[in-house]
Amino acid sequence: MFDKNTAGEVAGHKLAAEKHAPDKLFLASSNCGKLREYRSLAETFSSPRRIALELLPEIDRLPAFAENAPTFAENAAGKALHYSRFAEGLVFADDSGLVVPALGKAPGVHSARYAGENASDADRVRKLLEELREKKGAARQGYFVCVIALARRGKILGVISDRAGGTILDAPRGEYGFGYDPVFFFPMLGKTFAEQSLSEKNQHSHRGKAFRKLCDFLSSLSPETRVI
Ligand code: IMP
Repeated sequence: MFDKNTAGEVAGHKLAAEKHAPDKLFLASSNCGKLREYRSLAETFSSPRRIALELLPEIDRLPAFAENAPTFAENAAGKALHYSRFAEGLVFADDSGLVVPALGKAPGVHSARYAGENASDADRVRKLLEELREKKGAARQGYFVCVIALARRGKILGVISDRAGGTILDAPRGEYGFGYDPVFFFPMLGKTFAEQSLSEKNQHSHRGKAFRKLCDFLSSLSPETRVI
């Protein structure tokens, strides 16, 4: 039993502890490339509050969410809503992809399945280069989009997006990254995303910029919403 003062002190310590505790975020994704980038982002860019980022436990054993909406935002929000029902706390999901206006915005929301269900990153890059074979100059411009949705127990708290623009090369360059990175040339640095270290890519990428917005959004939420 606590007397009134002790109870007050305990409550005070608890509040102080919560103030300094990291925001715990569960990522709903089974894409290893994304997870690597978000982990590094959470370590680097989480000011003013620290973020403890974890993969949603057992995500591969939960009922899957079918990402077949026509927009990145609908897919991200649907995924975050769906998976937040299986967790206590804040869950975020993203939908991202490469948009090439000269290809009618393809691969777009179909970026992950552009060359079929079981195709590899190399297959998708090959298909993209084949589709762009006759295109020159401005027709090879494209941009990556990342939409992040944050949810908690079946309610959307926010939807955030950003993009990164560049041009599509006619042959892959670089060893880092994943997906379309080896053919995505980022003019500001004069390198493809696959020629950039993780921290370099994170500073300029669609995902890095959207995640920093998510951090700002999180710090604007009330402590009751942030704490599990
Ligand atoms: P989803 O968001 O899991 O549906 O998949 C997005 C797909 O878009 C990935 O599988 C990649 O093919 C592509 N993509 C998204 N972000 C990036 C990136 O940062 N670099 C390269 N490819 C990306």
